Amino acid sequence: MTQANAQSKRDILVTSALPYANGPIHLGHLLEYIQTDIWVRYQNMRGNNCVYVCADDAHGTAIMLRAEREGITSEALIERINQEHQQDFAGFLIDFDNYYSTHSEENREFSGYIYEQLKKNGHIATRSITQAYDPEKNMFLADRFIKGTCPKCKSEDQYGDNCEVCGATYTPAELINPRSAVSGATPIDKESEHYFFRLPEFAEFLRTWTRSGTLQPQVANKLAEWLDAGLQEWDISRDAPYFGFEIPDAPGKYFYVWLDAPIGYLASFKNLCDRRDDLDFDHFWKPDSKAEVYHFIGKDIINFHALFWPSMLYSAGYRTPTAVYAHGFITVNGKKMSKSRGTFIMAKTYLDHLNPEYLRYYFATKLTSNVDDMDLNLEDFAQRVNSDLVGKVVNIASRTAGFITKKFDGKLGQVTESSKLATFVQAGEEIAEHYENREFGRAMRRIMELADIANQYVNDEEPWVRIKDEDKAAEVQAISTNAINMFRLLMTYLAPILPATAKASEAFLNAPLDWNGRAKLLEGHAINKFKPLMNRVEMSQIENMLDASKEELPAATGEKSAKEVESHVEPIADEIDFNDFVKVDLRVAEIIKAEHVEGADKLLRLTLNIGEGERNVFAGIKSAYAPEDLQGRLTVMVANLAPRKMKFGLSEGMVLAAGPGGKDIFILSPDSGAKPGQRVM
Ligand code: MSP
Ligand code: ZN
Repeated sequence: MTQANAQSKRDILVTSALPYANGPIHLGHLLEYIQTDIWVRYQNMRGNNCVYVCADDAHGTAIMLRAEREGITSEALIERINQEHQQDFAGFLIDFDNYYSTHSEENREFSGYIYEQLKKNGHIATRSITQAYDPEKNMFLADRFIKGTCPKCKSEDQYGDNCEVCGATYTPAELINPRSAVSGATPIDKESEHYFFRLPEFAEFLRTWTRSGTLQPQVANKLAEWLDAGLQEWDISRDAPYFGFEIPDAPGKYFYVWLDAPIGYLASFKNLCDRRDDLDFDHFWKPDSKAEVYHFIGKDIINFHALFWPSMLYSAGYRTPTAVYAHGFITVNGKKMSKSRGTFIMAKTYLDHLNPEYLRYYFATKLTSNVDDMDLNLEDFAQRVNSDLVGKVVNIASRTAGFITKKFDGKLGQVTESSKLATFVQAGEEIAEHYENREFGRAMRRIMELADIANQYVNDEEPWVRIKDEDKAAEVQAISTNAINMFRLLMTYLAPILPATAKASEAFLNAPLDWNGRAKLLEGHAINKFKPLMNRVEMSQIENMLDASKEELPAATGEKSAKEVESHVEPIADEIDFNDFVKVDLRVAEIIKAEHVEGADKLLRLTLNIGEGERNVFAGIKSAYAPEDLQGRLTVMVANLAPRKMKFGLSEGMVLAAGPGGKDIFILSPDSGAKPGQRVM
């Protein structure tokens, strides 16, 4: 028995944020569920008792309105979406112990109970507020359900709190010609009584809680800023009509969706406990519990999880979370996911074209313990998967297993490289620490270093040469035995990332991938015939997925992003300062050659003269220009962009283009007598 085994089992409850029930799961969401699932699988492999629960976040106005548009009840809508979500998650091998819904009896009870406790403790206040009201639909309108003309740039059809054209922020009252996005009626002001959670009372508690190792340093600093700025009371009620739970002592008033959403963690876990004899709800949630509770979330919902939620738990007499782990956001090819670029990729669309384990691995290589954003660069994605998983890891087994099957009756011999293998076993400690600390990128780099060592070993030993010599049969068996044991250890370390390949490897090895028992190597052991464990990613699969994504646009996504999805205008990117801007070196370029690129639908290859030499640039402008229109003319290019390897060759810069796309793309600068290489501005 190893030391890890001897340690006492930890009881751990883990959650991911509850996805909104009014939209499909997309690759951005999946970062979180993959991150959490990897961590949970790792904990269980180490022998801990780690339970993973989640649920759909089923309440709110957006869901109610969508159900109405579809002509079905909210209950029917959330039931259907719940099935879809569960299918998507299963497709990505996310292994929840329970996937539930916030629209459940358990959640109604917990929400009512917690509210009663808060009230008893004097933490609920009531007062009247004035809000926009739709006199036709007879409902109050949140900012995002009001549209009008931007007071600043006069663009029409902008949402109630900010303009997507000029980026201005304002209040709905400032909109010119405001209208209800639900009925088109002109909103009126109306008063109603609201219920508030008295968050400021928890300032001292939160100061201590947020500094006690419960949050990542970057997050704790942000929280300290909020706490210094002073906390506001939190409006937890909404007026009918609303899809949610009615507040027990306030007919016609409902809990705001964000009140009962985190309580959904308790409800989902309770629902599981009621079905499992080995799990006791109170053991995990009583105030002095020794069990651990972790919430994995995105950085956009930190305030709900690190301010409101711990305060509610504390007031209601439950334990608070051991830690809240926030991650950054996923961009695709360096940009926010976008429908027009085809990078708004839904889980299902991905699964139609690619193996889920590719994405699990790629995300793992990118994941750290901090909240920085991560980019899913699709070329890099293909290259990493092909070179690391297919080219390195699987390769070790595929180049040695055949000898064992064909020449040694499927039987491994004795290990002869004990010290090399000891390195592999020992590395498990370091890799374990990286997993525990959510430094998955570091874990993957260490695993690939070992894979390099294993491949180098096989290269150096050349079993395929020795096999030709009858006298060297025993050597070949030993080399293969060493290599297959190396492969087994690597797959053990990768098992949390690649559950399906891990399972297939266990079948091939005819032995379990046992992290804690990994020091015991396979010797004199019969293995099964090797079957290819993973295929290469082809760029064509990725291109097909992007094309399909352009076609299959979601009806609506989460509440926060409903705007982005419904608008045709890309939101303005994060502000950059002047210093960032002047880093971009814009030059006049003469197009000396323009050519078609074989196999590319959209690209032309341009050879540009920028005064000091020539540049090769690929530009997606084939729909607008024929090569002969371009030769000899001037354009503007970004001259200091790092060269990028593309499918068709190296692109050394970018030409600037304007226009909506298709035939209307404009890259030419007027023939103004400018000289190639001249700086623009
Ligand atoms: N319903 C709330 C959570 C309630 S938890 C008590 C919600 N839902 S959501 O569907 O919008 O998002 C679910 C999770 O996915 C959130 O943690 C969110 O941060 C995460 N992500 C959504 N888009 C994402 C990216 N593009 N990148 C990374 N994570 C993203 O918020
Ligand atoms: Zn504007």
